[in-house]
Amino acid sequence: MAPAAAEGVETVVSENASNICKVAVIGSGNWGSVASKLIASNTLTLSSFHDEVRMWVFEETLPSGEKLTDVINRTNENVKYLPGIKLGKNVVADPDLENAVKDANMLVFVTPHQFMEGICKRISGKIKANAEAISLVKGMEVKMEGPCMISTLISQQLDINCSVLMGANIANEIAVEKFSEATVGYRLNKDVAERWVRLFSTPYFIVTAVQDVEGVELCGTLKNVVALAAGFVDGLEMGNNTKAAIMRLGLREMKAFSKLLFPSVKDSTFFESCGVADLITTCLGGRNRKVAEAFAKNGGKRSFDELEAEMLQGQKLQGVSTAREVYEVLTHRGWLELFPLFSTVHEISTGRLPPSAIVEYSEHLPRSS
Ligand SMILES: NC(=O)c1ccc[n+]([C@@H]2O[C@H](COP(=O)([O-])OP(=O)(O)OC[C@H]3O[C@@H](n4cnc5c(N)ncnc54)[C@H](O)[C@@H]3O)[C@@H](O)[C@H]2O)c1
Repeated sequence: MAPAAAEGVETVVSENASNICKVAVIGSGNWGSVASKLIASNTLTLSSFHDEVRMWVFEETLPSGEKLTDVINRTNENVKYLPGIKLGKNVVADPDLENAVKDANMLVFVTPHQFMEGICKRISGKIKANAEAISLVKGMEVKMEGPCMISTLISQQLDINCSVLMGANIANEIAVEKFSEATVGYRLNKDVAERWVRLFSTPYFIVTAVQDVEGVELCGTLKNVVALAAGFVDGLEMGNNTKAAIMRLGLREMKAFSKLLFPSVKDSTFFESCGVADLITTCLGGRNRKVAEAFAKNGGKRSFDELEAEMLQGQKLQGVSTAREVYEVLTHRGWLELFPLFSTVHEISTGRLPPSAIVEYSEHLPRSS
């Protein structure tokens, strides 16, 4: 809550005002809208934050002919990506990206990962020099020189520090305030991590900070590949034992891949909400699992693009592109044989292998542990 101006205390107010954090949320899909709601409930009550939360909206015209931004600001609901949930009156939807970020010193990035590079290019040089960022984005960019995590992309392109927040967080469940947990991964500065924890924490959303950006981010990214495998198992009606086996093998590959890429990744991170808990929820309830189930039920004959468009109404799948990106890294580094689950998921999703191949690679099981 911003302090009220009172006669005789101008100096104090202006000094305090400069310490008050202003938040912009870049993204307004399903999770972006829920993140804005969580944040807005805290900025109203915590004196270290400005009340207003500016939420950048990738503008679209609704079937009614109205602009999505106008409808959000009139109804206080994101009628397309989070219908039926009030965001909080202090959330202001803004279709102008540069305007949304220009006064903020806390930037929350939450868009599908394929749009992040373009967004960073657009705002580079147009943000506050002392801004801190956090990425809620799951996925990575694969470049010639190797994989680039989204937090690294943000840090490098905007020249600012970037933390991450990941966890067992299916957005629609948090929207209706069901209890869950999340993990903030931070690099060096514990005070910054604690500020992010305060900004997101509510009695039903418990946030813990760990000093392991890459570990937290890779957990959040790679579990979507395992979720596709879990969806294939569901589509083929293989049962719970098979699904549990796939989840265990997937967790093992997540850990091995993360540690090969970044030796600093901590084992303990895999036991946080961002690790095993997110893997479980995504393999039980997430959209990647759901679309992969439909893919397997159709015998792989309908493409993921077609099923995504039909089943998700504008929401984006991350697992298929992440599986491709992981596959590129594995091929490039000569690690394909070490990661049979990850590579098989990619080969199934591109139609090179049938969905049943998800349990047919056991003779090539990883020699890694
Ligand atoms: N939904 C969840 O339950 C959940 C939970 C945790 C993390 N995440 C992650 O959060 C991130 C954002 O997901 P979401 O669920 O908020 O989004 P979403 O899939 O619900 O919606 C897609 C969003 O992308 C926007 N968009 C479409 N074209 C665009 C373009 N060209 N440029 C920029 N934006 C464009 C749409 O306007 C919309 O806001 C993803 O990385 C996702 O993996 C999602």
